[in-house]
Amino acid sequence: MPSLDDFEQTAKEKLPDWIMNYYATGTGEEQTLQENKAAYKRLRFQPRIMCADKHRDISNRVLGYDVNIPIGVAPSALQSGAHPRGEMATAEGAEKCGTVMIMSSWGQVLIEDVAKSAPNGILWMQTYLNKDRRNTQNIVQRAEKAGFKAIVVSVDSPCVGIRKNKGYQGGDQFIKTLKGEVAAKGFVNYQGAVDDIAKARASGDDRLFKYAWDQSLSCPKWEEVEWLKTVTKLPLIMKGIMTVENAKQAVAVGAKAIIVSNHGGRQLDGLPASIEVLPEIADAVKGTGVEVYVDGGIRNGSDVLKALALGAKFVFVGRPALWGLSMDGADGVAEVLRTLEHELKVTMTLCGCSRLSDIDRSLVIHEAKLKCKL
Ligand SMILES: Cc1cc2nc3c(=O)[nH]c(=O)nc-3n(C[C@H](O)[C@H](O)[C@H](O)COP(=O)(O)O)c2cc1C
Repeated sequence: MPSLDDFEQTAKEKLPDWIMNYYATGTGEEQTLQENKAAYKRLRFQPRIMCADKHRDISNRVLGYDVNIPIGVAPSALQSGAHPRGEMATAEGAEKCGTVMIMSSWGQVLIEDVAKSAPNGILWMQTYLNKDRRNTQNIVQRAEKAGFKAIVVSVDSPCVGIRKNKGYQGGDQFIKTLKGEVAAKGFVNYQGAVDDIAKARASGDDRLFKYAWDQSLSCPKWEEVEWLKTVTKLPLIMKGIMTVENAKQAVAVGAKAIIVSNHGGRQLDGLPASIEVLPEIADAVKGTGVEVYVDGGIRNGSDVLKALALGAKFVFVGRPALWGLSMDGADGVAEVLRTLEHELKVTMTLCGCSRLSDIDRSLVIHEAKLKCKL
């Protein structure tokens, strides 16, 4: 079975450099991007031998929905760069595996078309708290009507992180960087503020790049979440929580779940790896009923098991899904998820776990705590 590194290599060979750069890179010195993966390597297993069963059950429930695997697809923008069917194919891939797909509001396919392409999928809609509330309201209410099951509010992007290398620096450069077919599709889901959108189009920004960019990076405050609750009945999930304090605020404001995430190292460089802050955040919200998920740097089944052991109920992958999408559309996304599923099951058995409830913190130790006898 190929590993996720093989999928990445294939994507690299297949995709034009400028698309690969947009997908793969991070901000600043890319410290957080690299640490997301490196931090998993600093964690080791303490298995329980002679207690695994042949049969492993990794089904789970998230926000009341049954999922076949505890691994879903994180929202990522501009998926037409990876495959002409973009977000529709990703949704189908997740549906095939009986798991969650979060659609980015910066997707290039209509929300309604994604819903139609995966009628039995568990779809969640991501949004920023846009400068003009009409845009957020439009995205959220269309998603609700189309059958999406939850709203994921990304709260880690008051402005765009510093992109020194190859990627993009700001709105203008971003627009220039995106070329051809990907650019042609634009930001189709920005439809709320009709008058301003018409003005943006008239000014030559016909694909709404600059407009959506400017709308999304709006420095929202916590009160904006209170407003959001008044325009939708769907549960709210807050994505981009990296501290205990912010996790408690998310609970207080009524979030039903949080995603511990540093945006895959694409916003504030210098943040810890998400797996490093997961345990304290999971402890802080214990007993509140708020579910805790994590993303960032998960590249194999061992990483998934470590995240579950340290307090996540569910994990998400961002870039790996894009590698699968670029290889083979929906089937490629499903193959990435199945690879992780297979690796998780094998690692569970080797650790002595037969079901997710067997997984707890005692299975994982930080390398700093291993006593060296040399
Ligand atoms: C190309 C790309 C685009 C992304 N776009 C969004 C987005 O529109 N909204 C969002 O909340 N997160 C976005 N993210 C962050 C992902 O949701 C996720 O947090 C991150 O990719 C997880 O790290 P991983 O790629 O190492 O799995 C994006 C990530 C990538 C790689």
